[in-house]
Amino acid sequence: MNTQTATTTSALMPPLRRPSRPVRAASRIVLTGFMGSGKSTVGPLLAAELGWTFIDLDAEIERRTGLSVPQIFSEQGEAAFRKEETAALAAVLGRTRTVIALGGGAPETLGNRLLLEQTPATAIVYLAAPFATLVDRCTAQSTTIRPNFADPAAAQARFAARHPIYNRLAHVRIETDGLTPEDSVAAVLATVAVKSSPA
Ligand code: S3P
Repeated sequence: MNTQTATTTSALMPPLRRPSRPVRAASRIVLTGFMGSGKSTVGPLLAAELGWTFIDLDAEIERRTGLSVPQIFSEQGEAAFRKEETAALAAVLGRTRTVIALGGGAPETLGNRLLLEQTPATAIVYLAAPFATLVDRCTAQSTTIRPNFADPAAAQARFAARHPIYNRLAHVRIETDGLTPEDSVAAVLATVAVKSSPA
């Protein structure tokens, strides 16, 4: 797999070295990135292009618990949400021919990173964008309630802490600023080599 050329992700932060760990025949593609990075928009389009299944990890958590993500945060707290997130990730990660969109905070949990890194044939793609773009996208998506975007200063601090984590974890980083979701799909397909379907 080739890697995507990196450009500066945020004017606030120095550019990081581009990820460069090849996956030769991915059976699953995991999309990571901050809230508003387009994981839940790009994911279904990418899955459709490949003829694969799409799983949104937040939707999977909601299905497993019978509660919405904001409900889990307000009724049980973020730590309880993170436990459900790890359980849901472990449950779905074995599936093949699947695109999985992680929640923006999932890679902060060490256990989740180990699960992702130790599952063979897993291509991890970081959909990156400057913080200002993420704010614009999250503001435009007024129907999506994100407890961890409520406080802009705290969200920016989370973004600064997570950007290097996403970058280290990913095999490929795609700078999505100025790209349509379809452009991002094309960029993923150009850089991730997927396992050909069984004859
Ligand atoms: C979170 C991101 C959300 C969701 C939860 C927490 C975060 O997912 O998992 O609200 O901490 O970044 P999206 O990245 O899909 O918005």
